[in-house]
Amino acid sequence: MENQKGHVLVLPYPAQGHINPLLQFAKRLASKGLRATLATTHYTIGSIKAERVHVEPISDGFDEGGYKQAPSTQAYVESFRRVGSKTLSELISKSYETEHPVNCIVYDSLLPWALDVAKTFGIYAAVLLTNSASVCSLFWYIHQGRLTSPLCPDALPIVLPGLPLLEFSDLPSFLAYPESQSAYLALIMEKFARLEENDWVFCNSFEELEAELVKALFGIWPLAMVGPLVPSAYVDRQIDGDTSYGGSLWNPTSDQCSRWLDKRPLGSVIYVSFGSMGNISSDQVEEIAFGLKATNKHFIWVLKDFEHKLKSPIQFLDSIQNRGLVVEWCDQLEVLAHRAVGCFVTHCGWNSTLEGLSLGMPMVGVPLWSDQATNAKFLEEKWRVGLRARKGEQGTVTREEVEMCVREVVEGERSEEFKKNALNWKDRAKRAVSKGGSSDKNLGEFVAKIREGGG
Ligand code: UDX
Repeated sequence: MENQKGHVLVLPYPAQGHINPLLQFAKRLASKGLRATLATTHYTIGSIKAERVHVEPISDGFDEGGYKQAPSTQAYVESFRRVGSKTLSELISKSYETEHPVNCIVYDSLLPWALDVAKTFGIYAAVLLTNSASVCSLFWYIHQGRLTSPLCPDALPIVLPGLPLLEFSDLPSFLAYPESQSAYLALIMEKFARLEENDWVFCNSFEELEAELVKALFGIWPLAMVGPLVPSAYVDRQIDGDTSYGGSLWNPTSDQCSRWLDKRPLGSVIYVSFGSMGNISSDQVEEIAFGLKATNKHFIWVLKDFEHKLKSPIQFLDSIQNRGLVVEWCDQLEVLAHRAVGCFVTHCGWNSTLEGLSLGMPMVGVPLWSDQATNAKFLEEKWRVGLRARKGEQGTVTREEVEMCVREVVEGERSEEFKKNALNWKDRAKRAVSKGGSSDKNLGEFVAKIREGGG
């Protein structure tokens, strides 16, 4: 039963890697009896299927086609700030005419302007960080003047509290190549400049996973780790029937994958995916294709536009016969949870990384951009659940490297260690979100505060 008091508006950036954790967060609030409304753009609202969460539209100014309709990223984020603030304010005002006035906004870290909307209404504001706390701390350290951007090569490797030693190749692309992503970097920096103005800083991670950093930030950020924000069926089973995020922007070819996997032996299949946002070059696709082929193992590969990315796609598919299945999009969790899958070759997007850890999957990291290089470093060196593939001289990960990493993770000397560590992380992730676990407790404390009303 929804409690009478307290109504939280949850506001995702309209991309797959952001809708997933914020929708899962809203579902977790609803499962604790709180009224939660996901406010999402007109272009994405049709994809949301979540029974217990209310859903309302807001506008980014591009209602027909979303960001693809915008002339540039800069134009998109400016439009979203302007039109989004207005339509979000209207939504909150409308709620005051009902029995459920909104008293808190939980907003995506790429929508820092939502903090101003919350302040205008005098309600609680909380940011939800969709990257690891470690990656986020790097941006904050810049704001604190403890790290410079653009980076000074003399300052490398970087030594900062709570973090391992970081080389240039370990850094998020927004920091390593700031000129190439200035629109996103500006949003990120704006958020960290005003972090302490939030009532809560939520992070889609869990305390044990980033223990040193949580310790280093204790009392500095109002940080509450609430992850992994992965559908309940795969971690704690607290939400009935919660087997998917419920907001897929593309249609998955799940039946085809399941049928194909059902015929494969236990742990024999490599699942390969590079997420939803990264742009993978044709050269890199070619190397991965032939690296996978050389392993002689079964694989499922999710790749949009495969036919145009590979030089001779039909020849390639013929040459691997039924050893590989290439699909445009799948239900990633369903595939990862299948008994036949034994290794995850991932771009190390934060959601994919958390999903791999939560499902106890040994991984090979092939980072493309954004926070992925840092996640890949942690995967290999801190959590020790697999290897990070290294780029060759041409700037791509070679086929030999792909083959070597997959073989090493699946059947090499350390394969048992990777498997064991991955299963340990699975247990810890489960503990964190289960009743009484660290993330569940953090969420419970938030819910109790919101239920008191106020804000
Ligand atoms: C990117 C970043 O890399 C990520 O770290 C950041 O926080 C958000 O933007 P993305 O490239 O989409 O995200 O990767 P990821 O964070 O892994 O999210 C992809 C999501 O799509 C995952 O939840 C995954 O389960 C889902 N997915 C992916 C599918 O459901 N089907 C697929 O076929 C592939």
